[in-house]
Amino acid sequence: MGRCFPAFPLLLLCLASVILVAIAQNYLPTDKILLDCGATSDVTDTDGQKWTADKGSKFLASSVNSSIAPAATQDPAVPQVPFMTARVFRSSFTYSFPLAAGRKFVRLYFYPASYGGLNASDALFSVTAASYTLLKNFSVAQTTEALNYAFIVKEYSINVDGGTLNITFSPSSNSLKAYAFVNGIEIVSMPDIYGSTDGTLMIVGNTSPFTIDNSTALENVYRLNVGGNDISPSGDTESADPNMTIESPVPPYIAPLDVYSTARSMGPSAKINVNYNLTWIFSVDSGFSYLVRLHFCEVASNITKINQRVFSIFLNNQTAEDQADVVAWANQHNGVPVHKDYVVLVSGGSPQQDLWLALHPNTDSVLKSMFYDAILNGVEIFKISSPDGNLAGPNPIPAPKQEVIDPSLVRPSSGSGHSKNQKAIIAGGVGGGVILALVIGCCVIAASRRHRQGKEASK
Ligand SMILES: *[C@@H]1O[C@H](CO)[C@@H](O)[C@H](O)[C@H]1NC(C)=O
Ligand SMILES: *[C@@H]1O[C@H](CO)[C@@H](O)[C@H](O)[C@H]1NC(C)=O
Ligand SMILES: *[C@@H]1O[C@H](CO)[C@@H](O)[C@H](O)[C@H]1NC(C)=O
Ligand SMILES: *[C@@H]1O[C@H](CO)[C@@H](O)[C@H](O)[C@H]1NC(C)=O
Ligand SMILES: *[C@@H]1O[C@H](CO)[C@@H](O)[C@H](O)[C@H]1NC(C)=O
Ligand SMILES: *[C@@H]1O[C@H](CO)[C@@H](O)[C@H](O)[C@H]1NC(C)=O
Ligand SMILES: *[C@@H]1O[C@H](CO)[C@@H](O)[C@H](O)[C@H]1NC(C)=O
Ligand SMILES: *[C@@H]1O[C@H](CO)[C@@H](O)[C@H](O)[C@H]1NC(C)=O
Ligand SMILES: *[C@@H]1O[C@H](CO)[C@@H](O)[C@H](O)[C@H]1NC(C)=O
Repeated sequence: MGRCFPAFPLLLLCLASVILVAIAQNYLPTDKILLDCGATSDVTDTDGQKWTADKGSKFLASSVNSSIAPAATQDPAVPQVPFMTARVFRSSFTYSFPLAAGRKFVRLYFYPASYGGLNASDALFSVTAASYTLLKNFSVAQTTEALNYAFIVKEYSINVDGGTLNITFSPSSNSLKAYAFVNGIEIVSMPDIYGSTDGTLMIVGNTSPFTIDNSTALENVYRLNVGGNDISPSGDTESADPNMTIESPVPPYIAPLDVYSTARSMGPSAKINVNYNLTWIFSVDSGFSYLVRLHFCEVASNITKINQRVFSIFLNNQTAEDQADVVAWANQHNGVPVHKDYVVLVSGGSPQQDLWLALHPNTDSVLKSMFYDAILNGVEIFKISSPDGNLAGPNPIPAPKQEVIDPSLVRPSSGSGHSKNQKAIIAGGVGGGVILALVIGCCVIAASRRHRQGKEASK
């Protein structure tokens, strides 16, 4: 599996940049800052984006409490910019960004190398942005090892009232050797696309409405282009019929068209489909609520009417939607993107838990759906800040070494590449049949457990 995994974040990063580009095309960000921490001169990354050196930058009140250093080593999966330099902090350090009011994506870039002779394992630190705790006792080395990533990008969405956004890095106080570092900071204005103050957002398995407003910060933990390139191709991946025009989502910055032009469905056999659930499993931190945004677009040219493909959506085994009908949601059109938001509470217990997303054909005899099938084009999962403004979870635990497993079965996913406590696992979606589905489902789950606990065989 080796090289395959560390490359993942890059792929995911690409997906994120696609989304960013989609945003950029239709929305003019008022703020766009790319800060290459530890760099002494401005540089351009492989996407042609210009990163500003943070040496002597106006965003640093002073360089007291910090030093700059290059990475001692470069993993082949790690891009030069912004990862090959870092700013290292032995005590609390604040960057101050003057910003216009509104929501911002804040992305923090980390590569666990040795900087200035320090041991990467000793980097343990907290990060706060305005009044939010983004990371606490965070170990880049442990997190990337557990997820088998070469580097990590954490993505947040934070509302700024205007004026200054302070981002503070503080080494953990419980270890004398602890230090903090960061390779890059990106801040981009974004439209308020995840907010809901109108009471329409519901907690799954509960009738209470849920509000996401200016005081809510979000962390993107998964971003999955279902059926698209970051998932292993399979017979169940449907592409839009060549003659079908996929309309732009409204508003267009909701997601790039690519997300909607590929989908995953259950397979051609109704008999098989009614006997299994098309299932995705995401490992998430306990003790938080999650916003699950599902993207749909009917890509089959022969499904044009209500009641042709009706299915149920389960989140953590609770019914989120009993009669999902994408064509009905899209005002009786195929090729029209729609998205639906759900909130799932993942209460305490073990530090990390699995969040289950499952789709099953609706076989209601009164409803009489024409096809027993289900479809999904994309998934985004966001951790919602707790009432005290916290988004930090524990470091994932690397697993003991295990035998090599087929990487095509396990795909760490998403969070715009970044983030991740994770590996999203695609179980199900097996054209073959129940047994195959079960077998693969089990493998995938088993694989995910091993994978969660560690990086195997990558080097
Ligand atoms: C340096 O660290 C000290 C102690 O953590 C903190 O009080 C001070 O504000 C820091 N200075 C800067 C410029 O960040
Ligand atoms: C949310 O914040 C934005 C930017 O600061 C502001 O324009 C908007 O009015 C705020 N919305 C509410 C409901 O307070
Ligand atoms: C870094 O620290 C870890 C854990 O304390 C230790 O296992 C490792 O050998 C150290 N690496 C180096 C290069 O000293
Ligand atoms: C901080 O993280 C390290 C590495 O995961 C762990 O060993 C330590 O127990 C944690 N400390 C606290 C106070 O959570
Ligand atoms: C941001 O940090 C600077 C320097 O530490 C401080 O002077 C300023 O008051 C802070 N601003 C806010 C809004 O917290
Ligand atoms: C697409 O349209 C062309 C021209 O109208 C037609 O010849 C072709 O059969 C269509 N393909 C499909 C898959 O419907
Ligand atoms: C709908 O189209 C798909 C592929 O184009 C085909 O496999 C399926 O049999 C069609 N269904 C019906 C009912 O025509
Ligand atoms: C959902 O059901 C599956 C299989 O029945 C079970 O393994 C899993 O723990 C359940 N998840 C939750 C959150 O209840
Ligand atoms: C699909 O998932 C739901 C919710 O967890 C469960 O009630 C149902 O039994 C599952 N169906 C199959 C065929 O696994």
